[in-house]
Amino acid sequence: MNKLPIHSRSDTAGEVRVGVDSATGSYDVLYGSGLIGNLSALMLREKAVIRPTSENTGIFVLSSPRVSRHWQAKIMRGIGPRTVRSTVLFDDRERMKNIATVERVCRQLVRLGADRRALLVAVGGGVVGDVSGYVAASYLRGVRLVHIPTTLVAQVDSAIGGKTGVNLPEGKNLVGAFYSPQLVVADPETLSTLPDREFRSGIYEVIKYGVIGDTRLFSYLEQNIERLAERDLATLDFVIPRCIRAKARVVSRDEREAGLREILNFGHTFAHAFETATAYRRYLHGEAVGWGMIAAARLAALVGRFDAEEALRIESLVRRVGPLPPLPPTGRSAGVDRLIEIMRSDKKTRGGKLRFVLPRAIGKVETVAGISRERVRDVLSALSKRP
Ligand code: NAD
Ligand code: GLY
Repeated sequence: MNKLPIHSRSDTAGEVRVGVDSATGSYDVLYGSGLIGNLSALMLREKAVIRPTSENTGIFVLSSPRVSRHWQAKIMRGIGPRTVRSTVLFDDRERMKNIATVERVCRQLVRLGADRRALLVAVGGGVVGDVSGYVAASYLRGVRLVHIPTTLVAQVDSAIGGKTGVNLPEGKNLVGAFYSPQLVVADPETLSTLPDREFRSGIYEVIKYGVIGDTRLFSYLEQNIERLAERDLATLDFVIPRCIRAKARVVSRDEREAGLREILNFGHTFAHAFETATAYRRYLHGEAVGWGMIAAARLAALVGRFDAEEALRIESLVRRVGPLPPLPPTGRSAGVDRLIEIMRSDKKTRGGKLRFVLPRAIGKVETVAGISRERVRDVLSALSKRP
């Protein structure tokens, strides 16, 4: 088994390229070990980079102190220290994914002299990517952006597809924009420094891809979930590009979530409510999605749309990833009502009606509207009684 640490692998021979179509221009996602050591050449080759001249302001790296501690030196070497005009670091805890952080970053960019030809390079997980993406979309009405995702969640999901945005106390990702990057560079080497809990959080999003459209991936995970948790490189090389391709296929066909893209929200109606109800402090995003997928699978079985045995397969795969933080207080009826109220303000809600992405089979999901509060309450109460 080829295990981490994998820093020694610096060849780019195994590079995977996946194209994403977008109304604002297509872009590529590159995946491969060692890619970040070669960023300058890559960005030139992909025409994403602007050389610093008197007519532009060069590259601004946006990242967090934690990511920067591990990867700043390597990223700087990869891009070329003289090409980077400045680095802006911000707190990437989920509760700091808010408008105040966007304002702080934009004001720093002004003070640093970033103009319309600036290129922002976002280095980090989903929080860095979502905040930086929204900054890129709104700063001077739009500057160019490259994502360098450094978590499993970001490599398989958040860096692809152009959703950017921040949270409000009332709900997740309620303020944002669709904004495509010029390029995404995903290097599995960066995952070597991720704390175990953060890495496991990404595995839930990987399981999601299996349930929503890839039975082979789901079965593979049933066989190999421990190897994935150990970050075995061959397993990462199988799983991550497969998820990138799946995400690229979906968002290329439905960038603005008119229909198909909703499948990516499997587990997320519950997850966003769990995260909001706990003030974004209790769960890593993927962990909330883990609970959300269990709840959605149980709900689908309860309303007779999904085989109960198959629901158990999803639940047991999710539970094999590791322990999940406890659910918000769903036992008391006030707790359940609050969760349902939060779900009603979810972006997927239409005309006040709850909408859930529910499995029909493993590998096939559908959006279902009009499920009664009572059924949702049944699922949440049962989960909190026998979590
Ligand atoms: P995260 O961005 O919160 O990062 C997790 C933690 O790991 C942070 O403390 C970060 O500093 C640290 N970290 C990141 N990379 C590291 C590395 N290589 N080594 C060591 N530490 C590292 O978590 P996440 O799971 O990547 O992202 C979650 C966020 O992404 C949520 O806000 C979620 O809503 C969002 N998201 C967005 C989309 C989208 O389509 N835009 C999709 C999925 C998730
Ligand atoms: N993660 C959900 C989406 O990108 O649509």
